Amino acid sequence: MKLLKDKIAQEGKVLSENVLKVDTFLNHQIDPELMQAIGEEFATRYKDEGITKIVTIESSGIAPSMFAGLTLGVPVVFARKRKSLTLTDNLYTSKVHSFTKNETNDISISQNFLSSDDVVLIIDDFLANGQAVLGLLDIVEQANAKTAGVGIVIEKGFQTGGGIIRERGIRVDSLANIKSLANGKVEFFEEAST
Ligand code: G4P
Ligand code: NA
Ligand code: NA
Repeated sequence: MKLLKDKIAQEGKVLSENVLKVDTFLNHQIDPELMQAIGEEFATRYKDEGITKIVTIESSGIAPSMFAGLTLGVPVVFARKRKSLTLTDNLYTSKVHSFTKNETNDISISQNFLSSDDVVLIIDDFLANGQAVLGLLDIVEQANAKTAGVGIVIEKGFQTGGGIIRERGIRVDSLANIKSLANGKVEFFEEAST
């Protein structure tokens, strides 16, 4: 997606060979117009898949998910990372290990909001090692719902997550796929892979 790649080229900061900072439009300050364009792009790609629900994970997956949900006319459910005061029982839960942070956390979604009737589009901001998406896939399976695919804003294609998920036969649409962050430069794959 050209608009997104241009934004990354203009405003992204390469912090290391593995980490791209995009807090001017995605991870801290949020660019609503760009999020709307991203959400509409996911919606266009999945418009014929019978999606009934967007599933994402707090916090940075929520903004692009909202616009996809708005365009497709379906609700957005976000997995919580911390225990909530009101979210106490009847949960689907999965363990997510972050290699980046070297910690494992439970993520949860209420059983009220996901069922065997659902066809799910999973959306997240980054795809790195794929652990967050694998946790969401686990929760969708627990609900006996169907996953139509995974929409990712920025995939780091040089890390393992994209391969792991596609090897399972799951469709992955990343709107920007980064080939390398070496030498302080962002290099993209020619086409965002699907
Ligand atoms: P994984 O799920 O693909 O295995 O990713 P990992 O554990 O490595 O990622 C942990 C957190 O770091 C996630 O956000 C993820 O989106 C983010 N992340 C991974 N690589 C990058 C990167 O290159 N740049 C930026 N900006 N973020 C990256 P999170 O902790 O869940 O935070 P948030 O969703 O609340 O923003
Ligand atoms: Na993030
Ligand atoms: Na995220």
